[in-house]
Amino acid sequence: MIIKDQTALDKYAVAGNPIAHSKSPSIHRLFAEQTGQKLVYSAECFPLDAFASSVADFIRTSGLGMNVTVPFKLQAWQLSDQLSLAAELAGAVNTLSFKDGVIFGDNTDGIGLVNDLSKNLKFNLQGKKVLIVGAGGAVRGVLQPIIAQRPSSITIVNRTVSKAWQLAEIFKELFDIKVLSFEELDSAYDLVINGTSASLSNQLPPLPACTIQPSTWLYDMMYGKGVTVFNQWGLENGAAQASDGLGMLVEQAAQSFKIWRGVSPNTKQVISKLRCELLDII
Ligand code: ATR
Repeated sequence: MIIKDQTALDKYAVAGNPIAHSKSPSIHRLFAEQTGQKLVYSAECFPLDAFASSVADFIRTSGLGMNVTVPFKLQAWQLSDQLSLAAELAGAVNTLSFKDGVIFGDNTDGIGLVNDLSKNLKFNLQGKKVLIVGAGGAVRGVLQPIIAQRPSSITIVNRTVSKAWQLAEIFKELFDIKVLSFEELDSAYDLVINGTSASLSNQLPPLPACTIQPSTWLYDMMYGKGVTVFNQWGLENGAAQASDGLGMLVEQAAQSFKIWRGVSPNTKQVISKLRCELLDII
């Protein structure tokens, strides 16, 4: 039996609490295999009250980079010595890199969404009228890369309208984001993105059908075994296409991998594999 000396390999991890459900270790192992990068990538369940000291331990034991998930993204942002523009505006970090005693924080969720739309789905955001549903951390995390694609307009609709206004205020130097309540929605959009957590509980945000026209695309940032309730609703109301967030998950991981290793993995293979696993067909 050959026992690989794992201590010789570059060390990465995803940290969260809980973490057992995370697909990041299998995604990064597939990327490493595919690109011939020699690394180990583990899942770390950090104690809720000890994020900073757990990161310090990881760095001390030669850790080079870490993905960060719920509930530590804000703490990772606070811990970072330097932030990318996307991370700074997101107010959250999902990718940490450790080099020469400096902690770099990035947020790859938004670029993950944009890359899934542009590369995999061939949807070009430039000049499009975009509606974003929700105004929580998930939406804040993706706004800067969406703005960078220069859509013609971005409207945020949220149950709690004041939270949508807060986001418009944070991004006002970059883009004039419109804010509406669900009751005020009265026109159709090119792209409707669901960034609420409603799908998690199989609930639908109260969107009127007039937001959809035959050319409208839907993107649910959540994903699941079958079609999400949001996408189902959109397709029943005549949307052209509806995609879920599995591609975004893989693309955000690919961006982290690129930040750490300088190479871009082939995401299509990995998305197909995860899709098959979700549908229990392999
Ligand atoms: P996350 O980090 O996933 O974004 P969050 O910050 O708690 O989580 O935000 C959840 C978002 O989903 C919010 O925009 C929330 O609306 P409110 O701000 O009004 O609470 C939205 N949301 C959750 N369940 C919803 C539902 N059933 N209908 C509409 N919006 C919902």
